[in-house]
Order: sequence, then structure tokens, then C-alpha cells
Amino acid sequence: MSNKIKTKKLPGIPLPPSNGDQPSSSRVTIDLVRRDPEVIALLQTANASLFALGYTEHGQRHAGLVGHIAENVLERLGYDQRTHELANIAGYLHDIGNVIHRENHALSGALMAERILTRMDMPVEERVLIMNAIGNHEEERGFAITPVSAALIIADKADVHRSRVQNPDMEAFDIHDRVNYAATRSFVRALKDEKVIALELEIDTNYAQVIEYFEIFLSRMTMMRQASQFLGCHFQLIVNDVRLS
Ligand SMILES: [Fe+2]
Ligand SMILES: [Fe+2]
Repeated sequence: MSNKIKTKKLPGIPLPPSNGDQPSSSRVTIDLVRRDPEVIALLQTANASLFALGYTEHGQRHAGLVGHIAENVLERLGYDQRTHELANIAGYLHDIGNVIHRENHALSGALMAERILTRMDMPVEERVLIMNAIGNHEEERGFAITPVSAALIIADKADVHRSRVQNPDMEAFDIHDRVNYAATRSFVRALKDEKVIALELEIDTNYAQVIEYFEIFLSRMTMMRQASQFLGCHFQLIVNDVRLS
């Protein structure tokens, strides 16, 4: 499916009633996922692989941050606690497919997450939401159709920051390195009453021009807008205190 913006809110997949039959003590929590040895090994190897290919950081830092932002967005918008914890888990696992190959890593990652979460005894009603979110997080074919997938898209595409640059040689920076290095602050603000999701960026124009950000991240912005609309919000992009959308 294309990333064409839909003006109408999609019905989405209804979330089951928070897995109410399962005692909270036996639920798969974000802490269990973060401590799982297989998940740790996958993220470390995936990041080492992408580092060798010259990509920005895609390891435990990115996973943790994306999970945290995804959870925070849904929490701010008033979703229930289990739904935003599922968004955190989806965020933490969303890039594990890179361990196999960058190409199609959303699809491979969704299948890998399904196997890991089955091993951890996560109920199927929750697993399918996480699989769907991971499978829809990339620009080529991603589309938000649940709150969890919308939050994951917003969180993932917002992670543009100096700390992601792994290339130690500034002379050899490509445009992705320069734009990420130029981003000294990136913050997602979700405002329930105003129905706004804003991405606030500070870009040091000594390293990259704002236009260069758009040059490489236009499709990301389009995805964030669709995901925000799915959540019933207007998407704003604010760069160096200037509102651009
Ligand atoms: Fe990804
Ligand atoms: Fe990512």
C-alpha cells in the first residue's frame, strides 16, 4: 500500500480488552523483553552489521528510545497502560530484522518478534498487534492501522540525533550522517486536548541545512503525518522554533 495520506480516520484493528484474564504478574513486560538474552544478541549484532554498512545507530539506544517515545505518545493521548506498554515492546523490537538484512527488515523483524514473544508466552491478541506494527514501520510499505503501529512510526521517524552517528570520521560523513549530526535536539510532543503531535527539532546549520533534512526525510514526514492523523491528531513539524507544517 502506498503512503498516500488518508483524510478519513481508518477504523483500525480494535484492541482486545487489555488481556484482562491474564494476571498482570505473568504479562510480558518491557523489562522482560529488554533483559532477554536473545533480544540483546539480536540488537547488538544487527547494529554491528549496519555499522559495517555505514548506517547510523540501530542498536539498544535506538530501540530503547523508540519504545519509550511510542509509549509516551499513547500515554499522553490517554490510551490504557497495557496498550502503551505494547507500543514500547514493539518499539524495542522493531529493528531486530536488520540482523538478517537491511532489505525487508520490517517483515523479517515481525516474524522474528512473533517467535520470541510466543516463547515468552505473550497471548496471540497482543502478538498480532506487535507483528503488525513492526511490519509497517518502514517507508517502503508502512501504514498505521492501529494505535500501536501509529505510535511506533512516529517514534521511529523522530529519532534523528547527533548521538546516532557512528562514523568517527567527520570528513567522511554522508548526508545522513551530517543531518543526524546537525540535530542537537529531537522531541515528540503529544497534546491530547489540542489534538496535535509535534516533532520539535533543533538543527545546527553549521553541519546541515534544513532543506537537507527534507531532502532525505520527506517520506518520513509523510508517514508521521498519516500516523498522527490515524491517532486523530494534526502533525506539526517545528524546526529551530519555526513551525513548518
Ligand atoms: Fe527500521
Ligand atoms: Fe528504527
